[in-house]
Amino acid sequence: MSKRGRFITLEGIDGAGKSTHHAWLANLLRLNGKSVILTREPGGTQLGEKLRTLLLFEPMNLETEALLMFAARREHIAEVIQPALERGDWVVSDRFTDASFAYQGGGRGLAWAKLEQLEQWVQGDLQPDLTFLFELDVITARQRLANTGNAPDRFEREQQEFFERVRNAYHRRAEAYPGRFCVIDAQQSISAIQKTLEERLVSG
Ligand code: ADP
Ligand code: TYD
Repeated sequence: MSKRGRFITLEGIDGAGKSTHHAWLANLLRLNGKSVILTREPGGTQLGEKLRTLLLFEPMNLETEALLMFAARREHIAEVIQPALERGDWVVSDRFTDASFAYQGGGRGLAWAKLEQLEQWVQGDLQPDLTFLFELDVITARQRLANTGNAPDRFEREQQEFFERVRNAYHRRAEAYPGRFCVIDAQQSISAIQKTLEERLVSG
């Protein structure tokens, strides 16, 4: 009889360090004998990656933005996440629904209740088993992003206050789901963070 895999998500403001630990985390799990799918949002499917390009670079109405995030997510769940979990694979996603609450809800001010309706419609009972929230002050995160030299997308061009609201909304989600969230102090060195991730995954 096959055992359902686990669904792990990485969250945090832009520049907090999620992507740095994404592949590393998958590798750690593989070394521990797991079969792992590495994916991201918005994106994760052919259609989702097309929607990602629109979402990151095309100006649009806030509700359109939220609906497209959830449309990409519906495709991602149906085509990638659900089948992988049913096969017994572990799924590690760079962002998921908490990001919609944080960015469209906290950052842009879309009503929490509308996001909850979309969440219920698109994912039903599916929630991550474990969410690592990379917690970093906005100024340090922006400095780290600036140092990468990459051209900023529509979200990364937002002001400091926007990211303060995003960060607060992440805290609100973490308080609502204390059992699933593991908050990481992203101010630490990369190796110290990796040690924390490993402890949480091996012990938990
Ligand atoms: P995110 O995916 O959360 O936007 P990244 O993982 O791309 O963030 O990290 C942004 C930048 O910060 C990268 O240049 C990365 O090398 C650097 N960085 C990530 N984690 C740390 C850390 N713990 N200490 C110092 N720099 C870091
Ligand atoms: P991300 O892949 O983390 O960007 P990068 O690879 O450049 O670090 O995410 C892209 C952007 O999409 C990020 O700024 C947050 C935003 N986003 C939302 O606004 N809502 C969502 O539901 C998701 C999944 C992402």
